[in-house]
Amino acid sequence: MSILHQPILSIDQDRDNFASRLFEDALGAFNIFSIHIGHQLGFYRALAGTGGLTTHDLAIRTGTHERYVREWLEQQAATCILDVENHTNSGTERRYSLSPGKAEVLVDQDSLNYLTPLAQSVVGSIKPMDALLQAYRNGGGVRFSEYGVDLREGQASMNRPMFLQQLGQEWLPQVSDVHTRLQADPPARVADIGCGGGWSCIGIANSYPRVRVDGYDLDEASVELAQSNIQAAGLGERVSVSLRDASNPELKGHYDLVVAFECLHDISDPVGALRTMRGLAGEHGTVIIMDERALEEFQPCAESLEKLFYGFSILHCLPVGMADQPSAATGTVMRPGTMERYATEAGFNRVEILPIDHFFFRFYRLAG
Ligand SMILES: C[S@@+](CC[C@H](N)C(=O)[O-])C[C@H]1O[C@@H](n2cnc3c(N)ncnc32)[C@H](O)[C@@H]1O
Repeated sequence: MSILHQPILSIDQDRDNFASRLFEDALGAFNIFSIHIGHQLGFYRALAGTGGLTTHDLAIRTGTHERYVREWLEQQAATCILDVENHTNSGTERRYSLSPGKAEVLVDQDSLNYLTPLAQSVVGSIKPMDALLQAYRNGGGVRFSEYGVDLREGQASMNRPMFLQQLGQEWLPQVSDVHTRLQADPPARVADIGCGGGWSCIGIANSYPRVRVDGYDLDEASVELAQSNIQAAGLGERVSVSLRDASNPELKGHYDLVVAFECLHDISDPVGALRTMRGLAGEHGTVIIMDERALEEFQPCAESLEKLFYGFSILHCLPVGMADQPSAATGTVMRPGTMERYATEAGFNRVEILPIDHFFFRFYRLAG
């Protein structure tokens, strides 16, 4: 047994360190909300690639009120997000600009470094706060739909670059038999469980021009979002998305590949969903699950990623998973041991962790 010790501090040091940390955390929270404002109102898009804009320029270009814009620009410069020229000039004469590196993170929606959706998801995760507090008191849940557009779109936009640029180009090619089948005739069929905004369906269909993809999701607005993304991608002939509960045993079909990306831990009945997936894959199909790379065991004072997972878990993933009862109440931090237990209960007899190297996700192949 290993015991992790934090450094021994006096009560005063411990108090002062923690008070400082809380102060810094509040600054981080304000940055997240300010980034959300900049994203929603098109401020970063308007600033990117310009040599600098005044408050007047930015207000005109974005159809917003100059006084608010000035305050936001000053906050962004004070927090070193934006650069400012002639900062000693009066507020209305200063020119603010967004550096190319920060523009990639804040504006370039195709970049793997695009992180504005993270801010949007954090904002979305606190939207149903009253319902959330109630759920903590009474053990109920909060439906995905109650988190609204920011959580839904933040989630979809966050994973979009990976699904369009890595899923079919790097990840699936590493699973050689699956990659071969997806390229072969007769055209393979793929089921994408909990497909959200549909970017994984689109990524697979783009990379494998023969396959047909059926996405399934329980959230009506996500299904509509996926359908509109699929139409815009011109894939309506080969990709469809339906409103279905993955844990419902009536979900039937025959698929060469069944995938579930970042959703198993959100499903109230993950064993039921895995059982459905096992049925959809039949004897010859493959089941691949991508979920958070949680540590193998609980760790106090954990690394950043684990803290991020717990952040989303306390606000969103656990309450969403508890919206339907009875619930396995998994939460974001689904450790490999939990995954193995669910898979075994669903009837699989092999759980392989695929050697796909990703800092955020772990990939499981289930068989048997
Ligand atoms: C975190 S989102 C992930 C969406 C998408 N796979 C992605 O990676 O962006 C989880 C998704 O699982 C869906 N979901 C949760 N429970 C489900 C169920 N029982 N059946 C089908 N979809 C479900 C939610 O509606 C949501 O769209």
